[in-house]
Amino acid sequence: MSHIIFDDQRIELDEGQTVLSGLLDHHYDIPNSCRSGVCQTCLMQAVDGEIPEIAQVGLKDTLKAQGYFLACSCVPQTPLRVVTTQADVLRCSATVINQTLLSKNVLRLRLKPEHTYEYRAGQYLTVWKTATIGRSYSLASVAELDDFLELHIRRIPNGIVSNWLHDTVKTGDILQIQAATGNCFYIPGSPEQKILLAGTGTGLAPLIGIARDALLQGHTGDIHLIHGATQMDDLYLHQALLDMAMQHHQFHYHTSVLQADHVTPQISTVPLEQQSIDVAVNPADWRIYLCGDVNMINGLKRKLFIAGASMNNIYSDPFVGSVDTNPTNPDTHPNIDIKVEQA
Ligand code: FES
Repeated sequence: MSHIIFDDQRIELDEGQTVLSGLLDHHYDIPNSCRSGVCQTCLMQAVDGEIPEIAQVGLKDTLKAQGYFLACSCVPQTPLRVVTTQADVLRCSATVINQTLLSKNVLRLRLKPEHTYEYRAGQYLTVWKTATIGRSYSLASVAELDDFLELHIRRIPNGIVSNWLHDTVKTGDILQIQAATGNCFYIPGSPEQKILLAGTGTGLAPLIGIARDALLQGHTGDIHLIHGATQMDDLYLHQALLDMAMQHHQFHYHTSVLQADHVTPQISTVPLEQQSIDVAVNPADWRIYLCGDVNMINGLKRKLFIAGASMNNIYSDPFVGSVDTNPTNPDTHPNIDIKVEQA
């Protein structure tokens, strides 16, 4: 057992209890979302004491050096004095410049950040509704091609943030966003290597960003993108991806629709897992990106590994639900991305 000092209060922690859990138990309103150590919404700073290494995984070295840590993955072994961060440590303003409904449930949101915003297509950022409520969404835009940030927002039943973005936020509004993070993006090198991009739902957002980035950077190997959907309407960028396949001979677009009302050469009902195995013959030679439903990712990762894929070549971006203190508000917050590991 250890304790933390926060707001001049000594707070005892139970065995194995995190800093975040201890503070929430004492009714402090600490921003948080995934509680899995990946979205970085629970960033805090230690001003005295030893930070467990795991509580700084994924943070930039500059932040680590200043004592920043993730409260949801911090179980201190010795007393720790902690403070909340300045809101502007990782946040900046961005103006909504375009909102387009891509399907019944998916909104395309384009934002113009007020300052230069560094990111790689496929990473994710947190959009803040209030100072303490934020959700993460993947970046479909490519910094070198687009002068905006593009997010695909799926409406989640009772979702606090997704419904706000769909129904309340308007063009011209200024939102608070957080610095981009995540390791699921295209890394230049081995341009001839084959690439498999497989994802469900708005897992398409990072995948299309990664594909565009790879093409921009001169990738010559075949790039196969498989979009898994429940219904036809969920193929929310179908025509754009068909067009992309027409424009780039090395880019190939596949669909997997569970409840297709018809089957065509472009509309397949073969399950996404099966298509991935069929497409990535000899997966040991492939670079693989998996985004979307966490169960799909875990299952597919296992199958690809058994088929010979190297875990070092698998990048994943599983979407998990946020952990909300109000269980009636299960806003999904996509994009917990963890390379290989971690989904
Ligand atoms: Fe702590 Fe997501 S990283 S809540």
